[in-house]
Amino acid sequence: MNINDFLPKAYTHTLIDDSVSYEAPSNIALIKYWGKHGEQLPKNPSISFTLSNCKTTTTLSFEALEEELDEGYDFEVFLDGEPEPGFEPKIEQFFNRINKYIPFLRQYRFKIETSNSFPHSSGIASSASGMSALSLCLMQMENLMQPNMSIEHFNEKASFLARLGSGSACRSVNGPLVVWGSHESIEGSSDLYGINYPYKINEVFNDYKDTILLVDKGEKQVSSTVGHNLMNNHPYAVGRFEQAFEQILNIIPILENGNLDAFIHLVEREALTLHAMMMTSSPYFILMKPNTLQIIEKIWNFRRETEIPVCFTLDAGANVHVLYPESHEQRVLDFIKNELVAYCQNGHYICDSVGSGARKL
Ligand code: DP6
Repeated sequence: MNINDFLPKAYTHTLIDDSVSYEAPSNIALIKYWGKHGEQLPKNPSISFTLSNCKTTTTLSFEALEEELDEGYDFEVFLDGEPEPGFEPKIEQFFNRINKYIPFLRQYRFKIETSNSFPHSSGIASSASGMSALSLCLMQMENLMQPNMSIEHFNEKASFLARLGSGSACRSVNGPLVVWGSHESIEGSSDLYGINYPYKINEVFNDYKDTILLVDKGEKQVSSTVGHNLMNNHPYAVGRFEQAFEQILNIIPILENGNLDAFIHLVEREALTLHAMMMTSSPYFILMKPNTLQIIEKIWNFRRETEIPVCFTLDAGANVHVLYPESHEQRVLDFIKNELVAYCQNGHYICDSVGSGARKL
């Protein structure tokens, strides 16, 4: 697929007034996307677990305008039933980026009603699930106008659009493991959209758990766009991008044979590398909090003492994702309750597990 394949074909049906709804999950990267170029293209391939409980539900209602707008868009956004004008600039930027691929944006008045399964102030980014859900709603509209579209094209284009809203959002259409970014060893991989990981996945990963420890629920210290830009002229950027390509090669046998020691080593190293990049950029940031480090140390001690294969990963923030196989769920949850909850803001954490992707409602 190349970029021109996402330009729409002639529509055979017209839509008047109606609504479409989708729910889309969040995702957690095992190999991180950090650094972008051009129009939302990644500097290196990444791979993520699609989550299940952390998700955004979006209903897009539309009403045909009498005349197509010359510029701008006619839309309003509601979060949990309340107007949320704070989301408008990001959606306007998204619409500007996708306008040539979704040419009916100026022909309708839209109402975007969205809600997240996780609290807005949890420090969990809703941009991945939110941009994925909105892109799927727009694709559903396009599908109604062009009903002979294949399911493959539908999903690829939804992911393609979601990427233009937020890079990691393109990994929130499919599941359970999604690769985004072209890599010679991953057949079908592309910088333009995410694909389902195409090779054998050991059954230990089927119902992998992710318990998200909410260490800091505040606003992000650094927006992801600013963060990605810090990789331009970063002294270690070239080495980091090469390493990420290598990590994709390394993860293929691990995903097949279920070697959890190797999995843990790779995943934790990725998380710490992401933070190392932020600590060594100009300007530099420390996004971990003292409690993040306390949790990491406790996880390491618990793993050493019990030999239970539990590990952590991090996003661009202080919260900790605790990853472990389902077979150890009870013991890890006891450990979290007894030893880690004390480091979470207001004792808050979210239990999630690997999921299979977005769903039409
Ligand atoms: C650290 O997808 O939020 O979570 O493309 O600017 O919207 P934009 O960035 P975003 O970056 C996420 C970065 C990360 C790692 C990852 O999810 O791969």
